[in-house]
Amino acid sequence: MKVAVLGAAGGIGQALALLLKTQLPAGSQLSLYDIAPVTPGVAVDLSHIPTAVDVKGFAGEDPTPALEGADVVLISAGVARKPGMDRSDLFNINAGIVRNLIEKVAVTCPKALVGVITNPVNTTVAIAAEVLKKAGVYDKNRLFGVTTLDVIRSETFVAELKGKNVADVKVNVIGGHSGVTILPLLSQIDGVSFTEDEVAALTKRIQNAGTEVVEAKAGGGSATLSMGQAACRFGLSLVRALNGESNVVECAYVDGGSEHAALFAQPVLLGKNGIEKVLPYGELSAFEAQARDSMLDTLKADIQLGVDFVK
Ligand SMILES: NC(=O)c1ccc[n+]([C@@H]2O[C@H](COP(=O)([O-])OP(=O)(O)OC[C@H]3O[C@@H](n4cnc5c(N)ncnc54)[C@H](O)[C@@H]3O)[C@@H](O)[C@H]2O)c1
Repeated sequence: MKVAVLGAAGGIGQALALLLKTQLPAGSQLSLYDIAPVTPGVAVDLSHIPTAVDVKGFAGEDPTPALEGADVVLISAGVARKPGMDRSDLFNINAGIVRNLIEKVAVTCPKALVGVITNPVNTTVAIAAEVLKKAGVYDKNRLFGVTTLDVIRSETFVAELKGKNVADVKVNVIGGHSGVTILPLLSQIDGVSFTEDEVAALTKRIQNAGTEVVEAKAGGGSATLSMGQAACRFGLSLVRALNGESNVVECAYVDGGSEHAALFAQPVLLGKNGIEKVLPYGELSAFEAQARDSMLDTLKADIQLGVDFVK
């Protein structure tokens, strides 16, 4: 199994690469790419960790050598938020970066499962889909917006609030990956109940959790370590599914035929060809149904921005 990380010298990329080096199955290859010249050095650094995962690093303008033979590609290349910035403020820079990288993916490893981390995810995944369509290699089952950070934040905050063992808390998060488009389904969590006030406050905290980190880092960037963990969880799930494991389910922002929007985050069953089945997200509370319906204009506009960018 070969996993490529694009943006590997960045805050997320390095955390993710470290976790993959220690957690990928023995015999895997980890391929690191970033425009930053330090990237081969990051690979040398990681290569001294005693696991049976081979690491190579590539820098420069062309990601092709890193992508050759990749089964999974995780993309965190781009700029991150500073205080006062919205994820959509990143669009001008990150849209072009994602487009250029996906153009290389389309040529070099069109069958790879691709996870897009670069923000604004609601839009960058639409860009990736359009680029792959243009190249004639689009497979909706192989492209994912990585929303796992919303899931792990939800699980952490719920466990904290309710005094639960976090390992026992599972939360689905649907919609997209910014502000009101992030919708944790708190009504569905086994063995936990909330007051209306708790639901409103917790939903808001989960939606603003990225900003919580941006403000706490005070100009030093956005979530990198928790995102590294989230991307590792998602990447390992893709690898486990590719290796034939059954019942691998993750929430992700996908082109899954949703009645709500062309791209929508929901639980998916993963298999050897990416999405094996888009799973129903279950019954919503009145609060959640209202939140879902009222996010759709925002989400659709975010998607359209990506479609228009490529066209
Ligand atoms: N999906 C999520 O939940 C989530 C969470 C947090 C952050 N993010 C996003 O992830 C992205 C990366 O965040 P970060 O904190 O790692 O930022 P960072 O600035 O620390 O790292 C970004 C890296 O991308 C590299 N890069 C820039 N252009 C490139 C290109 N054309 N090819 C290859 N590499 C390139 C930079 O050299 C840098 O090393 C941001 O867009 C951020 O908003 C997403």
